[in-house]
Amino acid sequence: MKNIVILISGGGSNMAAIVRTARQRDWAGRLDAQVAAVLSNRADAGGLAFAREQGIATAVVDHKGFPGREAFEAALAAQIDLHRPALVVLAGFMRILTPAFVARYAGRLVNIHPSLLPAFPGLHTHRRALEAGCRVAGATVHQVTAELDHGPILEQAVVPVLPGDTEQSLAARVLTQEHLIYPRAIEAFLQQAA
Ligand code: GAR
Repeated sequence: MKNIVILISGGGSNMAAIVRTARQRDWAGRLDAQVAAVLSNRADAGGLAFAREQGIATAVVDHKGFPGREAFEAALAAQIDLHRPALVVLAGFMRILTPAFVARYAGRLVNIHPSLLPAFPGLHTHRRALEAGCRVAGATVHQVTAELDHGPILEQAVVPVLPGDTEQSLAARVLTQEHLIYPRAIEAFLQQAA
């Protein structure tokens, strides 16, 4: 069985979309793949409760409990590696990763970012898109490389920016698309790896 480990920091709506799609599209039967674990750097991440309800293993590795990034990542990698993952999925995981961590999971580490990369890497993507006067916005699923919010693009979705949009309304429109493209990109990745 190919194990997927999902890393979250917050609400985990992308993680939930992936878990639901895995069930609806029978990834276990068709692709011999399953979401094996959901890990978070925050104990209060809302998505952990959903994962537990689904019978998925969860663990918290709180970055605040470590003296530095390397120590945190070593503990995180130890938790990830328990599941021997074929794929590590960053889904709203809000920690910057060192090149060494990225290299450890090279070719099996993916991320979703709420902009049309290479535009607007980093934080506050929706605010910056509105300030720039963008007519379209969107989200990108990409392979993770050492450079933040870069790496080969696997999927993108485009949404219109509408008159009167706020950061919140635009973020919500983009998020509904994230829930479609992330599971789709993962399924394609798993099919390719089969
Ligand atoms: C999503 O919009 C995701 O694209 C973004 O955080 C949100 C997490 O929502 N990720 C980043 O900004 C990473 N740079 P979720 O916890 O409900 O999936």
